[in-house]
Amino acid sequence: MYNSIEWVDGKLRLLDQTKLPCQVEYRDFSDYQSVAKAIKSMVVRGAPAIGSVAAYGFVLGASQFAGDDHAGFLQHMEVVSETLAATRPTAVNLFWALRRMEDTLREVKDNSFAAIEAALLAEAHAIAAEDIVVNRKIGEYGNEIVPQGANILTHCNAGALATVGYGTALGVVRAAHAAGKNVRVYADETRPLLQGARLTTWELMQDKIPVTLLTDNMAGYLMQKGQVSVVIVGADRIAANGDTANKIGTYSLAVLAQAHNIPFYIAAPTATVDIKLIDGSEIPIEERTKSEVREIYGQQVAPAEVEVVNPAFDVTPAKYISGIITEKGIVLPPYSVNLLKVMVR
Ligand code: MRU
Repeated sequence: MYNSIEWVDGKLRLLDQTKLPCQVEYRDFSDYQSVAKAIKSMVVRGAPAIGSVAAYGFVLGASQFAGDDHAGFLQHMEVVSETLAATRPTAVNLFWALRRMEDTLREVKDNSFAAIEAALLAEAHAIAAEDIVVNRKIGEYGNEIVPQGANILTHCNAGALATVGYGTALGVVRAAHAAGKNVRVYADETRPLLQGARLTTWELMQDKIPVTLLTDNMAGYLMQKGQVSVVIVGADRIAANGDTANKIGTYSLAVLAQAHNIPFYIAAPTATVDIKLIDGSEIPIEERTKSEVREIYGQQVAPAEVEVVNPAFDVTPAKYISGIITEKGIVLPPYSVNLLKVMVR
């Protein structure tokens, strides 16, 4: 599998996900402003991935400071952090990673600039390395709920591309595949930006994991025919009561799954849990540009002036969720009690 995020010779290298699967193209970034643009334009996407990339953007921001006074540097870093935070509002991992970087900065702020930069880079590397360890753990726990020969339906891309490596929902798939369970993934295409069609199918095919693509409106048909054993998706933000924001269309899948008695799991690191939010109504939902709906790959598919809605995420109420697979184990309802327990562990 290709690396989606790398730090090479003082620069951030990203696999451009807007070009996949037609072109495998890397882009190098040496300033925080273009890192912010890359997050916003979804060169990189997926909650854990944008957290890690924002952390590296913070490092680049520190290295761009041209002055020589510490007070000016700290003011500059506030602008860096605000710029990176203003890219995408829903995935809490972005703010979680920036908070870790700000905490590190606070600890070392009186040191030399070289020492500060070294400490920030070490923290960004730690965030990236931890993500892979966490995802493998999610895979191990998640494997327990995957039956032999399972057909696993997923939505969007919660794979290696959406993380630093291995993936969350697709991490569970990878673990089950490695355990010889003979699984197949049903990948929803995921309009408007087709992360399922373009990214999930591509990355699973790289690893020779069986995958079948369907359009978003076919999931109910497959479930009715008994062809889906379990639904596993990722998350962008989980409220304290278990309500979960994920890619638009996840909620419909959860309702369908319940109607057909199919288990519906979220796979996500505890970094995706926003324990201070009482429920999903407090999760900010990103609204993206109308052209993403009116067009596909720049090709107009609807009247140019038609009104459209384009929320990038929806919130699945906790009552539809069978369990939340984290690196600390599978959290079961009641989530208001059990999520809090894993968060303090
Ligand atoms: O808009 P995107 O592509 O960033 O949305 C991504 C998702 O919704 C993923 O399911 C989520 O971030 C989890 S990624 C491990």
